[in-house]
Amino acid sequence: MTDVLLAVKNLVKDFNHGEKTLQILKSVDLEILHGESVAVLGASGAGKSTLLHLLGGLDKPTSGKIYFKEADITKYNSRELAAYRAEKIGFVFQFHHLLQAFTAVENVMIPCLIRKISRQKASDKAHRALELVGLSHRKTHRPGQLSGGEQQRVAIARAIVMEPSIIFADEPTGNLDSTTGQKINDLLFDLNAKLGTTLFVVTHNIQMAANFSRQITLADGVITGDVYREQTDEISG
Ligand SMILES: Nc1ncnc2c1ncn2[C@@H]1O[C@H](COP(=O)(O)OP(=O)(O)OP(=O)(O)O)[C@@H](O)[C@H]1O
Ligand SMILES: [Mg+2]
Repeated sequence: MTDVLLAVKNLVKDFNHGEKTLQILKSVDLEILHGESVAVLGASGAGKSTLLHLLGGLDKPTSGKIYFKEADITKYNSRELAAYRAEKIGFVFQFHHLLQAFTAVENVMIPCLIRKISRQKASDKAHRALELVGLSHRKTHRPGQLSGGEQQRVAIARAIVMEPSIIFADEPTGNLDSTTGQKINDLLFDLNAKLGTTLFVVTHNIQMAANFSRQITLADGVITGDVYREQTDEISG
């Protein structure tokens, strides 16, 4: 029994661009433990989103290995990767990508329906997820009838509705004012504490990153910093 959720070994990602090959990730080695909250820092273009896409099974590496628990996801075909994403991962992006024609609860039900869960069960799960993000009173609103922070909370409800082991979030607060951004981060920490959901969150906000249990920094295609927050716990406020 190990508490390593994700193990990354010598991960390389090249992009071919015209005549040139750009090596964006040169050699990334990383272990993420169950229940950790990891903030990912680094300059624009450092490869943060690229790494997140590889770990989340949205793209394939040029070489190297990614183990989710014991399974080597770099060996997965596209159907297996789709199942991995749907069953184990929750994604939250800077722009929420909610479907405008559907209500909040319908948007949150979609991952369940894709996994062939019955409509009734999907609806129950979606209601529970919306309750967890504090949006029970807005469930019949469409995205256009919600504030930016509320829309992002619906996106988080959609990310957690299948009870994923890990949430990958790429600048989830980048499009929000700082107060709303703080609330979204607090919500993610709450899910981390209550459900044990591991967090892997790309952010440019150093102040917010300080609240995570661990901060990693990417530069020049490798991890140049890996710092754990001191275990003072007793989170105030
Ligand atoms: N499909 C692609 N083809 C060619 N180059 C790419 C491709 N995707 C990303 N890149 C390049 O890889 C580098 C890393 O991109 P990535 O999106 O991972 O950066 P990032 O660290 O997330 O930056 P930001 O903070 O601006 O979001 C960039 O220089 C980008 O131009
Ligand atoms: Mg990015």
